[in-house]
Order: sequence, then structure tokens, then C-alpha cells
Amino acid sequence: MTPLIRIEKLELKYENGRKTLPAVGPLDLEIRSGEALGLIGESGAGKSTLGLCLLGLLARKNGRITGGRIVSALKAEEIAYIPQDPQASLDPLCAIGKFLNEICPDPGKITEALRRVRLTGERNSLKSYPHELSGGMQQRLLIAAALLRSPKMIIADEPTASLDMLLQREIVRLFKEIQNTGITFLFISHNIALAGTFCDRLAIMKNGRVVEVAPTGEIFKTPSQNYTRELIDSTPEVSRD
Ligand SMILES: Nc1ncnc2c1ncn2[C@@H]1O[C@H](COP(=O)(O)OP(=O)(O)O)[C@@H](O)[C@H]1O
Ligand SMILES: [Mg+2]
Repeated sequence: MTPLIRIEKLELKYENGRKTLPAVGPLDLEIRSGEALGLIGESGAGKSTLGLCLLGLLARKNGRITGGRIVSALKAEEIAYIPQDPQASLDPLCAIGKFLNEICPDPGKITEALRRVRLTGERNSLKSYPHELSGGMQQRLLIAAALLRSPKMIIADEPTASLDMLLQREIVRLFKEIQNTGITFLFISHNIALAGTFCDRLAIMKNGRVVEVAPTGEIFKTPSQNYTRELIDSTPEVSRD
């Protein structure tokens, strides 16, 4: 597979008043076209910071690139983002139809996107408001919104953290279907077992650096880092299909 994005010796920092806080790097990573890559690590490892940087949104959080570079075949608008907390990302006063229409005014495409995430059967779904949907449905709505942007890549940052285990599996299966249509995935998670059910490769992040990257099967069978072994051992197993 050809690299879609090559990250070389990347260093990211946050400005906090007069202080500069290192968050990521130096970090090397390659994201290959069409793959599902899992970015795995404990809270604070720098996963979200890297995701924001790839989306071109780091400056909004007072973060910046202080070293290295990203060589990307994608424009920022070709990357869609699926956030962790669906409720916080949806405007409670905006009906679903209006929300989707603002992203893409083509009713045919909206119907198609809702069908892909299996939200079509919902009664009056376009007239509903976010609070009328369950957490799982809200997350599927945000996935539909991401699809409406016709992305070449999707970055999903802890997209299932607010859902129970069954719904997590359902969302991950949906991601697999979407990836199978040729969309590259960066799946950010602290849950290596869940990522293992979906991702082709896993990149393990610790203290701002990628400490190990390998095909998923290899990571689980023969992790090269003790840290990876600890992550595997400390995560409850998720049954595979
Ligand atoms: N807006 C911010 N300002 C300052 N420091 C931040 C900001 N966001 C995150 N950080 C710090 O950057 C580091 C990486 O955070 P983050 O990327 O959110 O990690 P993860 O997503 O892996 O939990 C942490 O030390 C965190 O405290
Ligand atoms: Mg995070």
C-alpha cells in the first residue's frame, strides 16, 4: 500500500500563557492508503493532539508544529472527523435534517448517507432533534455527517468511548464496512482490544511518541514493547467475529 500520509520527526507543542508544553514527538508514522490504522495509548499520550494536527485544527487549541513535517497526499477538507462525545458535537436546537443539509444540500446524498449508517427506518428522522436519538444513533448520525463530506480519510477519536460494549462493536463494524469502500481510517482509542477487531495495523503511542507499529495480529502475538503487552493485558477481551 502506498503512504497517504507520511509523518516525519513531528513535534507538536501547546502554548499555555508563557509556557510551551511539549505534547507530541518526535514522532514518525505512515498512514497507508485504504488501511484502518489504530492509534492506541493511554490518556495523555498525545493521540488527540496528533489527530487534530492532521485535521489542521491544532491552532484552534493553541497548539503548533515545532519540528518535523507531514507529507500528505490529502487536503485538510478530504479528511473527516468523528468525535468522542456525539452529544457535545450536536446542536440541541438544530433538527437532524437541517444539520445534514448544512453539510450537503443534496437530499439524495443525505438519504444515501443515512442508509449507510442504518438510520433510515427512524420515524420522522430528519425532523427529530439530537436528544430524541439514543447515544448510538447520535454517533451513527455523526458518521453519516462525516460521509456526506465525501472524505478520503476519516479520523475517529475515541468514537465509542461513551457507548456500551454492544454499541461499540456495532459502530466498529460500521467503520469496517465504510473502510471496505476505500476510505482510509485512523481509529484513535485507548482500547487495544476493540481496535484489534477492526484495524489492519496498530501504532502504539506513549508519552508523545509511537513506540511500536505493526500489523494487528503481530502486535497481539509478539509485541516488541513491554508497554504494548501491558496494554493488551489490562484491556478486557473483545470477542472477534
Ligand atoms: N489545549 C491544550 N493545552 C495544553 N496542553 C494540552 C492541551 N490539550 C492537550 N494537552 C496536553 O497534551 C498532552 C497530550 O494530550 P492528548 O493529545 O489529549 O492525549 P490523548 O488524546 O492521548 O489522551 C497531554 O499532556 C495533555 O495534557
Ligand atoms: Mg484524546
